[in-house]
Amino acid sequence: MIKNVNHTNKKDFETLLNNFWKGASLADCKKDASTTGQFLYYINGKAVGLLTCSIKKEYVPGCNTGKVAYLEGLYILPEYRRQGFATKLVEQFEKWAQKHSCKEMASDIEIDNDISLQFHNKMGFEIVEKTIHLKKIFKEN
Ligand SMILES: CC(C)(COP(=O)(O)OP(=O)(O)OC[C@H]1O[C@@H](n2cnc3c(N)ncnc32)[C@H](O)[C@@H]1OP(=O)(O)O)[C@@H](O)C(=O)NCCC(=O)NCCS
Repeated sequence: MIKNVNHTNKKDFETLLNNFWKGASLADCKKDASTTGQFLYYINGKAVGLLTCSIKKEYVPGCNTGKVAYLEGLYILPEYRRQGFATKLVEQFEKWAQKHSCKEMASDIEIDNDISLQFHNKMGFEIVEKTIHLKKIFKEN
């Protein structure tokens, strides 16, 4: 069963969130966009997966409608994987996106996350761009 996240299940959400985003809170998921959504997947009262999403009005690679439903985070507890729960959460996300009049959805993944890439492919996403992040540390004078 999928539930929206609110004050009653915020703790369930943050416990799962901290498995991949250490120290993050529900407030962190809401702070960078005016419209966001958070969902939890429950099995027999236990939260086993989460999805957090937003609506982006700024530039999103490969998109051109100016209002893009963005998959910010998706996580399923290891022992509950490969049972279709992430698929169900993304289907819920798609309904949410359409309710908000979005015509496109987008996502990003780490370059070495092959499982996530396979998952996104299965859900109908296509690669639009590959980016490498770089940095330079200034020498002290
Ligand atoms: C990626 C993740 C969310 C998938 O969750 P899941 O509930 O296992 O996914 P589903 O059961 O809905 O799988 C749907 C499809 O994705 C693909 N897939 C999922 N896990 C896979 C794996 N380990 N190997 C290959 N393909 C896989 C398959 O095509 C699968 O369909 P199938 O089972 O009919 O073959 C989960 O592995 C996870 O939480 N990983 C760690 C966090 C992460 O990487 N999140 C993604 C960043 S957005």
